[in-house]
Amino acid sequence: MNAPIGNPRRGRIEARVRELGPWFHNLDLHGVRTAPDHFLGDYPRVKWDRFAHAIAADLTGKTVLDIGCNAGFYSIAMAQRGAARVVGIDHDAGYLAQASFAAALLGFPGIEFIQLSTYDVGALQERFDIVLFLGVLYHLRHPLLALDLIHQHVACDLLVIQSMQRGSDQVAAVEADYDFNETAHFDAPGYPKLHFIERDYAHDCTNWWAPNRACMEAMLRAAGFRIEAHPEDEVYLCRAIPRESGGPEADLLRGYWVPAPGSGAGTSFAGT
Ligand SMILES: C[S@@+](CC[C@H](N)C(=O)[O-])C[C@H]1O[C@@H](n2cnc3c(N)ncnc32)[C@H](O)[C@@H]1O
Repeated sequence: MNAPIGNPRRGRIEARVRELGPWFHNLDLHGVRTAPDHFLGDYPRVKWDRFAHAIAADLTGKTVLDIGCNAGFYSIAMAQRGAARVVGIDHDAGYLAQASFAAALLGFPGIEFIQLSTYDVGALQERFDIVLFLGVLYHLRHPLLALDLIHQHVACDLLVIQSMQRGSDQVAAVEADYDFNETAHFDAPGYPKLHFIERDYAHDCTNWWAPNRACMEAMLRAAGFRIEAHPEDEVYLCRAIPRESGGPEADLLRGYWVPAPGSGAGTSFAGT
């Protein structure tokens, strides 16, 4: 009796998945799993399952930008909900190749994947109804700059953000100002703290910062995002609103924004 012949399509998918590996996203490509041994389990499915309910099930007509899209799990999820236009950006060409392959295979060849750094979102020259910024913030040397740029260039309404958080999950009431000799509040567990990772964390040298919950929330406010929901420990849904700080004028006072020469306005940053 002949040995059973394997499904040739499945064989081709398995071969391509191997070629494009290693994978961070564990996608289900017609029965072929891309990262079945992921250290976080069936990732990011297990994460998504905890906050998927917080995002509209019908995204018909909406535009979505997925920053740090990796192999496209969330871009594909947005397309599955009917988004009119989905753009995924990542600075890693290998991950983008995975994303293009997966999206086409799963029936979403229209998702646009672009090699672009989160610091260069201004180059898109487009604002999106929904910006996903999931699992990226703590991988950046300049996280607040990244949030500022997202606010300045691409977010027009909803920001969905997730960050690894470490430290206390308390949120202390912070006064608008303190006397120079008043220092005790800095040591309160609920004071905003951004833990700097000089070397590796979790065997990953791209982990730069780990905010505590108070810091995560304070950074979002400082960048001009109003927190509307916190459906999962690490996930926030925010609205882009005018900057509370007063925008560029106040930034200028704080010394990190300089007007473009001769324009009376501008977008360049100094001292970051
Ligand atoms: C931990 S993965 C998160 C992937 C996906 N967003 C998720 O939540 O599952 C971080 C992703 O951000 C990308 N990334 C890191 N720094 C970036 C940067 N400066 N610009 C664009 N992408 C970046 C990495 O290549 C990687 O795909």
